[in-house]
Amino acid sequence: MKIKGKSYTTIWLNENDESCVQIIDQRWLPHEVRFADLKTVDDAFTAIKDMWVRGAPLIGGAAAYGMYLASLHFKDNHSVVEQLTEAGNYLNTARPTAVNLAWAVNEQLKAVKQAALLENISLANTQKILKTNAQKICADDIKISESIGENGLAIIEAIYQQKKETVNILTHCNAGWFATIDWGTATAPIYKAHKKGIPIHVWVDETRPRNQGARITAFELEEEGIDYSVIVDNVGGHLMQNKQVDLCIVGTDRTTYCGDVANKIGTYLKALAAWDNNIPFYVALPSTTIDWEIREGKDIPIELRSNEEVKYIYGKTEKGELEKILLTPENANAANYAFDVTPAKYITGLITEKGICEANEKSILSLFPEKALIV
Ligand code: MRU
Repeated sequence: MKIKGKSYTTIWLNENDESCVQIIDQRWLPHEVRFADLKTVDDAFTAIKDMWVRGAPLIGGAAAYGMYLASLHFKDNHSVVEQLTEAGNYLNTARPTAVNLAWAVNEQLKAVKQAALLENISLANTQKILKTNAQKICADDIKISESIGENGLAIIEAIYQQKKETVNILTHCNAGWFATIDWGTATAPIYKAHKKGIPIHVWVDETRPRNQGARITAFELEEEGIDYSVIVDNVGGHLMQNKQVDLCIVGTDRTTYCGDVANKIGTYLKALAAWDNNIPFYVALPSTTIDWEIREGKDIPIELRSNEEVKYIYGKTEKGELEKILLTPENANAANYAFDVTPAKYITGLITEKGICEANEKSILSLFPEKALIV
């Protein structure tokens, strides 16, 4: 997608220096567009943990490149598989909820282990495999997000055909292109609908405490010329009661194979309000976000982050300076649960790259029959 009319992805390999992975450092959005260089596995770990990059699919992409960066510093006289396993274990501890992290680490390990079965794999060959595979994981993610967009477009089109007026969509957090490599998950159908000329207005939940909605979703919708309004997190229920929301679309960080959805804290309350008001509530996700090992949402690990994120807020002062402001009494306790689980029964459907299904095991497996053997 575009920033000031120029196309970007969220992560890429520097074409003039293949020892350097570049990212858009999202901590500064929307006030500044800054880029950062990642050169070591520690850089990738920090970028994921401290949310320079965030959003489940992008965390996966960054982890895949993190494994490649790790290999650039391996000792030549040690087992590459052992060193890579160690790097993967380390990266896996960066953030607990988004399953794409473990998925991408595993994809990289699998690729190298497979090659090691066939030959005595050299360090140079390991690095080549990891680089190519990281590039493929990111390129595939773009195609997947675009397919989610095509599949979700049908839902928006159907509402528009019936309503013949602007379609109002509520979204939570940032499941936009900044949360993926490009296109986004929840935003992909919105971008597709906009490109088709369907009038859209997006209600953007600000999404305290890190304000991914107010800072990042608002930024990307604005850059794409899509009409939106930022709302504080408690407004959605009121809008739904007053028929100002036609459809909710959110993303997810981990969805069980029975359809329970972990997403940014507050998603559950929006799903309850949508349920009570008969408003369709869709979750857009790549299949890389489905955890084929977990049946029930209660088993999804929920990230608990620093209470500093609740107590302080960042923003631009009237003088144009970026500042961190204390909101609470200095010694206030704060609890910062980063995700919640929306039970499958509140979800109208899952929009995936393979099509739309219901949030239950049978329907999910009908789109991904190859997974029936492992669940
Ligand atoms: O804590 P974050 O910003 O990584 O959380 C992101 C979300 O909750 C997104 O909605 C989710 O990852 C889906 S992204 C396509």
